[in-house]
Amino acid sequence: MSDLQGLMKEFEEYKARGLKLDLSRGKPSGDVLDLSNGMLDGLDTYLSEDGTDIRNYGVLAGLPECKRMFSDLLGVPAEQMILGGNSSLSHMYTVFGLLWNFGIGGSTPWVREANVKILCPVPGYDRHFALTEDFGAEMIPVPMTADGPDMNVVEKLAAEDASVKGIWCVPLYSNPEGVVYSEETVRRLARMKTADPHFRIFEDNAYGVHHIFEEHRVTNILTCAREAGNPDRVFYYFSTSKITFPGGGISLVTSSPANVKEVLAHIGKQTIGYDKITQMRTVKLFGGSADAIRAHMKNIAALLRPRFELVLKYLDSEFAENGIVRYRAPMGGYFVSIDVPDGCASRVVALAKEAGVVLTGAGATWPYGKDPRDSNIRIAPTYPTLGELDTTMRILCLCIRIAAAEKA
Ligand SMILES: Cc1ncc(COP(=O)(O)O)c(C=O)c1O
Repeated sequence: MSDLQGLMKEFEEYKARGLKLDLSRGKPSGDVLDLSNGMLDGLDTYLSEDGTDIRNYGVLAGLPECKRMFSDLLGVPAEQMILGGNSSLSHMYTVFGLLWNFGIGGSTPWVREANVKILCPVPGYDRHFALTEDFGAEMIPVPMTADGPDMNVVEKLAAEDASVKGIWCVPLYSNPEGVVYSEETVRRLARMKTADPHFRIFEDNAYGVHHIFEEHRVTNILTCAREAGNPDRVFYYFSTSKITFPGGGISLVTSSPANVKEVLAHIGKQTIGYDKITQMRTVKLFGGSADAIRAHMKNIAALLRPRFELVLKYLDSEFAENGIVRYRAPMGGYFVSIDVPDGCASRVVALAKEAGVVLTGAGATWPYGKDPRDSNIRIAPTYPTLGELDTTMRILCLCIRIAAAEKA
Protein backbone atom coordinates (compact mmCIF):
# COMPACT_ATOMS: atom_id res chain seq x y z
CA MET A 1 0.00 0.00 0.00
CA SER A 2 1.35 3.48 -0.90
CA ASP A 3 1.63 6.17 1.76
CA LEU A 4 -1.38 7.96 0.30
CA GLN A 5 -3.46 4.76 0.28
CA GLY A 6 -2.61 4.22 3.95
CA LEU A 7 -3.65 7.78 4.80
CA MET A 8 -6.89 7.41 2.83
CA LYS A 9 -7.74 4.22 4.68
CA GLU A 10 -7.40 6.07 7.99
CA PHE A 11 -9.45 8.93 6.53
CA GLU A 12 -12.29 6.58 5.53
CA GLU A 13 -12.36 5.21 9.08
CA TYR A 14 -12.89 8.72 10.45
CA LYS A 15 -15.55 9.40 7.83
CA ALA A 16 -17.46 6.31 8.85
CA ARG A 17 -17.71 7.66 12.40
CA GLY A 18 -20.09 10.43 11.24
CA LEU A 19 -18.40 13.03 13.46
CA LYS A 20 -19.64 16.60 13.82
CA LEU A 21 -16.78 18.81 15.01
CA ASP A 22 -16.21 22.53 14.57
CA LEU A 23 -12.91 24.37 14.59
CA SER A 24 -14.14 27.37 12.66
CA ARG A 25 -15.20 30.26 14.88
CA GLY A 26 -13.49 31.91 17.81
CA LYS A 27 -16.26 31.47 20.34
CA PRO A 28 -15.80 31.05 24.08
CA SER A 29 -16.64 27.55 25.34
CA GLY A 30 -19.28 26.86 27.97
CA ASP A 31 -16.70 26.48 30.77
CA VAL A 32 -15.26 29.91 29.95
CA LEU A 33 -18.71 31.53 29.79
CA ASP A 34 -19.58 29.98 33.15
CA LEU A 35 -16.85 32.10 34.78
CA SER A 36 -19.03 35.16 34.13
CA ASN A 37 -22.37 33.76 35.26
CA GLY A 38 -22.44 36.47 37.91
CA MET A 39 -23.59 38.68 35.02
CA LEU A 40 -26.92 36.85 35.22
CA ASP A 41 -27.51 37.78 38.87
CA GLY A 42 -29.88 40.56 39.79
CA LEU A 43 -28.69 44.08 40.50
CA ASP A 44 -29.41 45.50 43.93
CA THR A 45 -29.72 49.06 42.63
CA TYR A 46 -30.77 50.83 39.50
CA LEU A 47 -28.86 54.00 40.33
CA SER A 48 -25.39 54.64 38.99
CA GLU A 49 -22.79 56.36 41.17
CA ASP A 50 -23.87 59.78 39.89
CA GLY A 51 -27.53 59.04 40.60
CA THR A 52 -28.53 58.19 37.02
CA ASP A 53 -31.49 55.81 36.78
CA ILE A 54 -29.97 53.14 34.54
CA ARG A 55 -33.40 51.81 33.60
CA ASN A 56 -34.09 54.96 31.65
CA TYR A 57 -32.84 56.70 28.49
CA GLY A 58 -29.67 58.76 28.42
CA VAL A 59 -25.94 58.80 29.29
CA LEU A 60 -24.93 58.36 25.66
CA ALA A 61 -21.22 57.73 26.27
CA GLY A 62 -21.70 55.27 29.16
CA LEU A 63 -21.75 55.10 32.96
CA PRO A 64 -18.83 56.84 34.71
CA GLU A 65 -17.95 53.86 36.93
CA CYS A 66 -17.79 51.57 33.90
CA LYS A 67 -15.65 53.98 31.87
CA ARG A 68 -13.32 54.42 34.85
CA MET A 69 -12.87 50.63 35.13
CA PHE A 70 -11.93 50.37 31.43
CA SER A 71 -9.72 53.43 31.69
CA ASP A 72 -7.74 51.71 34.49
CA LEU A 73 -7.63 48.50 32.47
CA LEU A 74 -6.49 49.95 29.15
CA GLY A 75 -4.78 53.21 30.04
CA VAL A 76 -7.08 55.32 27.87
CA PRO A 77 -8.86 58.43 29.22
CA ALA A 78 -12.41 57.82 30.46
CA GLU A 79 -13.61 61.16 29.16
CA GLN A 80 -12.70 60.14 25.60
CA MET A 81 -14.59 56.84 25.67
CA ILE A 82 -17.88 55.86 24.12
CA LEU A 83 -19.29 52.61 25.49
CA GLY A 84 -21.67 50.83 23.15
CA GLY A 85 -23.70 47.69 22.65
CA ASN A 86 -22.29 44.18 22.75
CA SER A 87 -20.30 44.45 19.53
CA SER A 88 -17.16 46.48 18.86
CA LEU A 89 -17.61 45.54 15.19
CA SER A 90 -20.73 47.62 15.26
CA HIS A 91 -18.70 50.64 16.51
CA MET A 92 -16.17 49.95 13.74
CA TYR A 93 -18.96 49.89 11.17
CA THR A 94 -20.38 53.14 12.53
CA VAL A 95 -17.04 55.00 12.39
CA PHE A 96 -16.21 53.59 8.94
CA GLY A 97 -19.69 54.66 7.82
CA LEU A 98 -19.17 58.17 9.19
CA LEU A 99 -15.84 58.48 7.38
CA TRP A 100 -17.54 57.18 4.26
CA ASN A 101 -20.65 59.35 4.30
CA PHE A 102 -19.76 62.48 6.24
CA GLY A 103 -16.01 62.61 6.86
CA ILE A 104 -14.58 63.31 10.32
CA GLY A 105 -12.47 66.34 11.28
CA GLY A 106 -13.01 67.92 7.88
CA SER A 107 -11.92 64.89 5.82
CA THR A 108 -13.62 64.47 2.43
CA PRO A 109 -16.34 61.81 2.73
CA TRP A 110 -14.83 58.71 1.16
CA VAL A 111 -17.97 58.21 -0.90
CA ARG A 112 -16.90 61.26 -2.92
CA GLU A 113 -13.38 60.00 -3.55
CA ALA A 114 -12.58 58.22 -6.82
CA ASN A 115 -10.61 55.56 -4.94
CA VAL A 116 -10.53 54.50 -1.31
CA LYS A 117 -7.85 51.98 -0.39
CA ILE A 118 -7.53 50.35 3.01
CA LEU A 119 -4.39 48.48 4.05
CA CYS A 120 -5.14 45.00 5.34
CA PRO A 121 -2.36 43.11 7.15
CA VAL A 122 -2.55 39.45 6.09
CA PRO A 123 -3.40 36.97 7.34
CA GLY A 124 -6.09 39.04 9.05
CA TYR A 125 -9.60 39.09 10.45
CA ASP A 126 -12.29 38.16 7.95
CA ARG A 127 -14.92 40.47 9.45
CA HIS A 128 -12.67 43.54 9.03
CA PHE A 129 -12.41 42.58 5.38
CA ALA A 130 -16.16 41.96 5.03
CA LEU A 131 -16.90 45.37 6.58
CA THR A 132 -14.45 47.13 4.24
CA GLU A 133 -15.85 45.31 1.22
CA ASP A 134 -19.39 46.22 2.25
CA PHE A 135 -18.58 49.91 1.66
CA GLY A 136 -16.79 49.18 -1.59
CA ALA A 137 -13.31 50.24 -0.45
CA GLU A 138 -10.40 48.52 -2.14
CA MET A 139 -8.36 46.27 0.14
CA ILE A 140 -4.58 46.19 -0.21
CA PRO A 141 -2.90 43.23 1.51
CA VAL A 142 0.21 43.98 3.56
CA PRO A 143 2.37 41.10 4.84
CA MET A 144 2.58 40.47 8.58
CA THR A 145 5.93 39.97 10.27
CA ALA A 146 6.72 38.75 13.79
CA ASP A 147 6.55 42.44 14.86
CA GLY A 148 3.26 43.38 13.19
CA PRO A 149 2.55 44.61 9.65
CA ASP A 150 5.62 45.07 7.46
CA MET A 151 6.15 48.76 8.18
CA ASN A 152 8.41 49.36 5.16
CA VAL A 153 5.47 48.38 2.94
CA VAL A 154 2.92 50.31 5.03
CA GLU A 155 4.99 53.51 5.09
CA LYS A 156 5.65 53.37 1.36
CA LEU A 157 2.02 52.81 0.40
CA ALA A 158 0.69 55.43 2.81
CA ALA A 159 3.28 58.03 1.77
CA GLU A 160 2.95 57.59 -1.98
CA ASP A 161 -0.77 57.36 -2.56
CA ALA A 162 -3.40 59.77 -1.20
CA SER A 163 -6.12 57.23 -1.95
CA VAL A 164 -4.66 55.01 0.80
CA LYS A 165 -6.99 56.09 3.59
CA GLY A 166 -6.38 53.74 6.47
CA ILE A 167 -5.21 50.45 7.95
CA TRP A 168 -6.72 47.69 10.10
CA CYS A 169 -4.61 46.73 13.11
CA VAL A 170 -5.06 44.10 15.82
CA PRO A 171 -2.05 45.11 17.91
CA LEU A 172 -2.06 42.51 20.67
CA TYR A 173 -2.43 38.83 19.75
CA SER A 174 -3.46 39.56 16.18
CA ASN A 175 -6.21 37.50 14.60
CA PRO A 176 -5.22 34.90 13.45
CA GLU A 177 -1.48 34.68 14.17
CA GLY A 178 -1.37 35.90 17.77
CA VAL A 179 1.41 38.40 16.92
CA VAL A 180 2.22 41.29 19.27
CA TYR A 181 3.08 44.57 17.54
CA SER A 182 6.51 45.78 18.62
CA GLU A 183 6.99 49.23 20.09
CA GLU A 184 8.83 50.26 16.92
CA THR A 185 5.85 49.17 14.77
CA VAL A 186 3.40 51.13 16.90
CA ARG A 187 5.58 54.25 16.87
CA ARG A 188 6.09 54.06 13.11
CA LEU A 189 2.34 53.70 12.55
CA ALA A 190 1.68 56.69 14.77
CA ARG A 191 4.26 59.01 13.21
CA MET A 192 4.54 57.91 9.56
CA LYS A 193 4.09 60.49 6.80
CA THR A 194 0.90 59.91 4.87
CA ALA A 195 -0.13 61.36 1.51
CA ASP A 196 -3.66 61.80 2.87
CA PRO A 197 -3.43 64.01 5.98
CA HIS A 198 -6.57 62.29 7.29
CA PHE A 199 -5.13 58.75 7.17
CA ARG A 200 -6.83 56.55 9.84
CA ILE A 201 -5.68 53.64 11.93
CA PHE A 202 -8.43 51.26 13.04
CA GLU A 203 -6.83 49.88 16.19
CA ASP A 204 -8.93 46.84 17.13
CA ASN A 205 -7.59 45.83 20.53
CA ALA A 206 -10.06 42.92 20.78
CA TYR A 207 -7.50 40.76 22.66
CA GLY A 208 -6.02 43.56 24.76
CA VAL A 209 -6.07 41.55 28.02
CA HIS A 210 -6.21 38.02 26.59
CA HIS A 211 -2.88 36.61 27.71
CA ILE A 212 -2.60 32.84 27.36
CA PHE A 213 1.00 31.95 28.13
CA GLU A 214 2.58 35.07 29.56
CA GLU A 215 1.58 38.69 29.70
CA HIS A 216 2.63 40.88 26.78
CA ARG A 217 1.98 44.58 26.55
CA VAL A 218 1.54 46.75 23.54
CA THR A 219 2.57 50.39 23.34
CA ASN A 220 -0.39 52.77 23.54
CA ILE A 221 -0.86 54.05 20.02
CA LEU A 222 -3.22 56.85 21.07
CA THR A 223 -0.46 58.40 23.17
CA CYS A 224 2.14 57.86 20.43
CA ALA A 225 -0.09 59.45 17.79
CA ARG A 226 -0.74 62.45 20.01
CA GLU A 227 2.97 62.87 20.74
CA ALA A 228 3.76 62.57 17.04
CA GLY A 229 1.31 65.37 16.23
CA ASN A 230 -1.31 63.05 14.72
CA PRO A 231 -3.93 62.97 17.50
CA ASP A 232 -6.86 62.33 15.18
CA ARG A 233 -5.30 59.41 13.30
CA VAL A 234 -6.38 56.55 15.56
CA PHE A 235 -9.76 55.01 16.37
CA TYR A 236 -9.28 52.43 19.11
CA TYR A 237 -11.77 49.63 19.82
CA PHE A 238 -12.22 47.12 22.60
CA SER A 239 -15.02 44.92 23.94
CA THR A 240 -15.86 42.48 26.69
CA SER A 241 -17.03 39.83 24.19
CA LYS A 242 -14.17 37.50 25.16
CA ILE A 243 -14.09 38.63 28.79
CA THR A 244 -17.71 38.08 29.86
CA PHE A 245 -20.34 37.20 27.23
CA PRO A 246 -20.22 37.91 23.48
CA GLY A 247 -24.00 37.83 23.65
CA GLY A 248 -24.22 40.37 26.46
CA GLY A 249 -21.11 42.48 26.70
CA ILE A 250 -19.99 46.06 26.21
CA SER A 251 -18.01 47.63 23.39
CA LEU A 252 -15.81 50.69 23.52
CA VAL A 253 -14.45 53.18 21.03
CA THR A 254 -12.04 55.96 21.85
CA SER A 255 -10.04 58.50 19.90
CA SER A 256 -8.94 62.13 20.21
CA PRO A 257 -11.32 64.51 22.05
CA ALA A 258 -12.27 66.15 18.73
CA ASN A 259 -13.04 62.83 17.01
CA VAL A 260 -15.00 61.53 19.99
CA LYS A 261 -17.12 64.68 20.09
CA GLU A 262 -17.95 64.37 16.41
CA VAL A 263 -18.65 60.63 16.53
CA LEU A 264 -20.83 61.07 19.60
CA ALA A 265 -22.93 63.71 17.84
CA HIS A 266 -23.70 61.18 15.10
CA ILE A 267 -24.27 58.31 17.55
CA GLY A 268 -26.80 60.54 19.28
CA LYS A 269 -28.86 60.29 16.10
CA GLN A 270 -28.72 56.45 16.25
CA THR A 271 -29.64 55.90 19.89
CA ILE A 272 -30.80 57.81 22.97
CA GLY A 273 -28.39 55.70 25.01
CA TYR A 274 -26.97 52.18 25.02
CA ASP A 275 -27.76 49.39 27.48
CA LYS A 276 -26.63 50.74 30.87
CA ILE A 277 -27.92 47.70 32.72
CA THR A 278 -25.22 45.53 31.11
CA GLN A 279 -22.67 48.23 31.96
CA MET A 280 -23.78 48.12 35.61
CA ARG A 281 -23.77 44.30 35.67
CA THR A 282 -20.20 44.30 34.33
CA VAL A 283 -19.10 46.82 36.97
CA LYS A 284 -20.76 44.70 39.64
CA LEU A 285 -19.17 41.45 38.43
CA PHE A 286 -15.69 42.98 38.80
CA GLY A 287 -16.40 45.28 41.73
CA GLY A 288 -15.45 48.15 39.43
CA SER A 289 -11.84 46.97 39.50
CA ALA A 290 -9.48 46.54 36.55
CA ASP A 291 -7.38 44.19 38.71
CA ALA A 292 -10.41 41.94 39.13
CA ILE A 293 -10.73 41.77 35.33
CA ARG A 294 -7.04 40.86 35.10
CA ALA A 295 -7.54 38.08 37.67
CA HIS A 296 -10.61 36.85 35.76
CA MET A 297 -8.56 36.73 32.54
CA LYS A 298 -6.03 34.50 34.33
CA ASN A 299 -8.87 32.09 35.09
CA ILE A 300 -9.94 32.16 31.45
CA ALA A 301 -6.33 31.58 30.35
CA ALA A 302 -6.12 28.53 32.64
CA LEU A 303 -9.02 27.01 30.68
CA LEU A 304 -7.75 28.04 27.24
CA ARG A 305 -4.04 27.26 27.67
CA PRO A 306 -4.43 23.45 27.52
CA ARG A 307 -6.39 23.82 24.29
CA PHE A 308 -3.61 25.88 22.70
CA GLU A 309 -0.98 23.51 24.03
CA LEU A 310 -2.80 20.56 22.50
CA VAL A 311 -2.95 22.22 19.07
CA LEU A 312 0.72 23.14 19.23
CA LYS A 313 1.66 19.65 20.44
CA TYR A 314 0.04 18.14 17.34
CA LEU A 315 1.61 20.68 15.00
CA ASP A 316 5.06 20.19 16.56
CA SER A 317 4.96 16.40 16.63
CA GLU A 318 3.51 16.02 13.12
CA PHE A 319 5.19 18.81 11.20
CA ALA A 320 8.16 20.36 13.01
CA GLU A 321 10.62 18.05 11.27
CA ASN A 322 9.12 17.64 7.81
CA GLY A 323 8.20 21.32 7.39
CA ILE A 324 4.89 20.49 5.69
CA VAL A 325 3.16 23.10 7.84
CA ARG A 326 4.63 26.51 8.69
CA TYR A 327 3.27 28.29 11.74
CA ARG A 328 4.12 30.88 14.34
CA ALA A 329 3.17 29.79 17.84
CA PRO A 330 0.68 32.47 18.94
CA MET A 331 1.72 34.64 21.88
CA GLY A 332 -1.90 34.80 23.11
CA GLY A 333 -5.39 35.62 21.86
CA TYR A 334 -7.86 33.22 20.31
CA PHE A 335 -6.35 31.53 17.24
CA VAL A 336 -3.54 29.53 15.71
CA SER A 337 -2.65 30.30 12.10
CA ILE A 338 -0.97 27.70 9.90
CA ASP A 339 0.34 27.65 6.35
CA VAL A 340 0.02 24.34 4.53
CA PRO A 341 1.85 23.77 1.22
CA ASP A 342 0.79 26.21 -1.51
CA GLY A 343 -2.39 25.18 -3.28
CA CYS A 344 -3.47 22.84 -0.47
CA ALA A 345 -5.58 24.91 1.94
CA SER A 346 -8.91 24.50 0.07
CA ARG A 347 -8.26 20.78 -0.30
CA VAL A 348 -7.53 20.42 3.44
CA VAL A 349 -10.73 22.28 4.33
CA ALA A 350 -12.76 20.13 1.91
CA LEU A 351 -11.25 16.88 3.20
CA ALA A 352 -11.86 17.90 6.82
CA LYS A 353 -15.48 18.67 6.00
CA GLU A 354 -15.93 15.20 4.50
CA ALA A 355 -14.56 13.75 7.73
CA GLY A 356 -16.99 15.83 9.82
CA VAL A 357 -14.71 18.73 10.85
CA VAL A 358 -15.75 22.28 9.97
CA LEU A 359 -12.76 24.58 9.50
CA THR A 360 -12.77 28.30 8.73
CA GLY A 361 -13.01 28.55 4.95
CA ALA A 362 -9.69 28.63 3.08
CA GLY A 363 -9.02 32.22 2.05
CA ALA A 364 -11.04 33.72 4.92
CA THR A 365 -7.92 35.37 6.35
CA TRP A 366 -7.37 37.30 3.11
CA PRO A 367 -9.26 40.24 1.59
CA TYR A 368 -12.08 39.10 -0.72
CA GLY A 369 -11.63 35.57 0.67
CA LYS A 370 -8.81 35.00 -1.83
CA ASP A 371 -5.54 33.69 -0.51
CA PRO A 372 -3.26 33.93 -3.56
CA ARG A 373 -1.21 30.95 -2.40
CA ASP A 374 -4.17 28.98 -1.05
CA SER A 375 -2.10 28.07 1.98
CA ASN A 376 -3.40 29.78 5.14
CA ILE A 377 -5.82 28.13 7.56
CA ARG A 378 -7.09 29.63 10.80
CA ILE A 379 -7.58 27.24 13.70
CA ALA A 380 -9.97 28.35 16.45
CA PRO A 381 -9.33 26.04 19.41
CA THR A 382 -11.36 27.84 22.09
CA TYR A 383 -14.81 26.30 21.64
CA PRO A 384 -14.41 22.49 21.52
CA THR A 385 -13.75 20.45 24.64
CA LEU A 386 -10.23 19.05 24.99
CA GLY A 387 -11.49 15.61 23.92
CA GLU A 388 -13.17 17.01 20.81
CA LEU A 389 -10.12 19.11 20.05
CA ASP A 390 -7.88 16.06 20.25
CA THR A 391 -9.97 14.16 17.65
CA THR A 392 -10.26 17.30 15.53
CA MET A 393 -6.50 17.84 15.47
CA ARG A 394 -5.87 14.20 14.54
CA ILE A 395 -8.24 14.60 11.60
CA LEU A 396 -6.81 17.98 10.60
CA CYS A 397 -3.24 16.64 10.61
CA LEU A 398 -4.35 13.62 8.57
CA CYS A 399 -6.09 15.85 6.01
CA ILE A 400 -2.97 18.02 5.73
CA ARG A 401 -0.80 14.96 5.15
CA ILE A 402 -3.23 13.67 2.49
CA ALA A 403 -3.38 17.02 0.68
CA ALA A 404 0.43 17.34 0.80
CA ALA A 405 0.90 13.76 -0.48
CA GLU A 406 -1.59 14.32 -3.32
CA LYS A 407 0.28 17.50 -4.28
CA ALA A 408 3.63 15.74 -4.18
C1 LIG B 1 -9.95 40.96 15.96
C2 LIG B 1 -11.39 40.89 16.35
N1 LIG B 1 -12.12 42.01 16.45
C3 LIG B 1 -13.40 41.99 16.79
C4 LIG B 1 -14.06 40.80 17.06
C5 LIG B 1 -15.49 40.83 17.41
O1 LIG B 1 -15.67 41.70 18.47
P1 LIG B 1 -17.10 42.08 19.04
O2 LIG B 1 -17.73 40.86 19.58
O3 LIG B 1 -16.81 43.10 20.06
O4 LIG B 1 -17.89 42.66 17.87
C6 LIG B 1 -13.35 39.60 16.98
C7 LIG B 1 -14.02 38.31 17.22
O5 LIG B 1 -13.54 37.26 16.91
C8 LIG B 1 -11.99 39.65 16.60
O6 LIG B 1 -11.25 38.52 16.49
